[in-house]
Amino acid sequence: MDIIDGKAISEEILEELRHDLAGSNHGRAPSVAFVRVGEDPASISYVNKKQKVAASLGIESQLHVLPVEISQEDLIKQIDLLNQDDTIDGILVQAPLPQEIDSNTIFNRVNPEKDVDGFNVVNAGRLCQEDKEGFLPCTPAGIVELLKRSNVETAGKHVVVLGRSLIVGKPAGLLMMRQHPFGNATVTICHSRTKELAKVVSLADIIIAAIGKPRFVTEDMVKPGAIIVDVGINRIEDPSRKSGYRLVGDVDFDRVAPKTSLITPVPGGVGPMTVALLMKNTIKAYRKNIV
Ligand code: GUN
Repeated sequence: MDIIDGKAISEEILEELRHDLAGSNHGRAPSVAFVRVGEDPASISYVNKKQKVAASLGIESQLHVLPVEISQEDLIKQIDLLNQDDTIDGILVQAPLPQEIDSNTIFNRVNPEKDVDGFNVVNAGRLCQEDKEGFLPCTPAGIVELLKRSNVETAGKHVVVLGRSLIVGKPAGLLMMRQHPFGNATVTICHSRTKELAKVVSLADIIIAAIGKPRFVTEDMVKPGAIIVDVGINRIEDPSRKSGYRLVGDVDFDRVAPKTSLITPVPGGVGPMTVALLMKNTIKAYRKNIV
């Protein structure tokens, strides 16, 4: 069993992006605007991390924190202001949004050319069409990079994705099946209504676990030698920690890992890749915007 070091691979990508940016001078730095609604601790931590990494690449970022009671109308007004600002290349509205707000309406309001998250219907459609002009959602794109840089062959393999979200499950399935050197897989997507889920998962050569349930994937579900990408970032109580919690994935790592040939840890697996691919998308948006 080998562990895929997502942190190290993400550093490699960031280094490539630094090098790429050093060679270009368009009169101003790339810029990205983050919109965070409310004070969800996980969202605060993710957006902080994204801002820090942006700064380390010389990407300018701004943060717009809006109250949890904000109306959908007012949130749309804020997005329109960012859409109209030519000096902003990328816009990211951190999910999850309050229940009263329709997430799709918000994601669809972001100008598709600034949609560095790839959640807008235009970019979701471009992904379906395998159109390179689009922005790929960062976590699924990060998963592809992890597998690619770990020399995992995906063509003809059976990939089972657990979860059908807009943010991970659905686009991950589409990326794995696309006609591409790092796609061409046979894909099964499992969700809460899947019958005999354990049996289906046990057929997988590659498992992408993105259901947000701590340690959901157990050793009986995993074929010996399978490859696992664990997307889950679940906080569980841990009184021995100063914070009172620790992070675990969607996979019961300690028991499952010995059965696999390759597995990503949590933390230090997919998480840093999401941030690195966001930076890549931001630079792509900048290059498109600056011409
Ligand atoms: N919430 C969880 N993952 C993501 C992500 O990749 N982008 C945004 N905007 N919100 C998220």
